[in-house]
Amino acid sequence: MRRLRVVQGILWAGVAVALAVVAIALSGVLTRFVPARPDTVTSAGSGRPQVGGPFRLVSHTGVEVTDSTLRGKPFGMFFGFTHCPDVCPTALIELTERLKELGSDADGITFVFVTVDPERDTREVLASYMQSFDPRILALTGTSEEVAAILKAYKAYARKVPTGSGNYTMDHTALAYLMDRKGAFRNTLDFHENKEVQLAKLRLALRE
Ligand code: NI
Repeated sequence: MRRLRVVQGILWAGVAVALAVVAIALSGVLTRFVPARPDTVTSAGSGRPQVGGPFRLVSHTGVEVTDSTLRGKPFGMFFGFTHCPDVCPTALIELTERLKELGSDADGITFVFVTVDPERDTREVLASYMQSFDPRILALTGTSEEVAAILKAYKAYARKVPTGSGNYTMDHTALAYLMDRKGAFRNTLDFHENKEVQLAKLRLALRE
C-alpha cells in the first residue's frame, strides 16, 4: 500500500509538471498571436504597459526635445499630422480648450504633438500649423528614423494610406499618453471622452 502511494505521488507530480509545461507553452503562443492594441492601452491592474523611452526630436520652435528634456514634469504625448482632415485638429482644439480650463495649473504639464508624417511635416510646416492652438503645446518632428523610433517606444501605430495620384493620408493612434514626471506611462487621454473626464484625468496627471 505504502509503495502504491509513493507511485501515485510520483504520478501526480508528473501530471502537475506536464500541466505547468502546457500552461507556459500556451502563454507563449497567446502572447505571440495576440498583438498589442495601442488604442486600447489602459493602466488597469498592477502591470502598467511598458510605454515610453528615449527619443530625440526637434520642436516647431526649433528646440531639440528628448525624453530627458520632458522629465521633471508630467507630460502628455500624442501623435498626428498636419494634413489630418479631422481627428488631429479636433484633438488640438480640445486640448487647447482643456489647457485654458485648467488655467495656470496647465503650466504643470507639458504636451507634445509628435508628427507621424515627417516627410511633409517639417519644422516650418509645424510652426505655421501650431499658430492655431495653445502656444504651450510643442509639436515635434524629426527624420523618418527618429519618428519611427518614438512610435515604437510608445507602441503607437501609424501607417501611410495612398489616396490616389501620389497623395496619401496617415492612419494613426489618436490617443494621448499621459506620462508621469519620470517618464513612466500613467494613463491615456481620449479626446472623444467628455470634457469632465478629460479634465479629471489631467488633474490626476498633475498630482502624480
Ligand atoms: Ni489625425
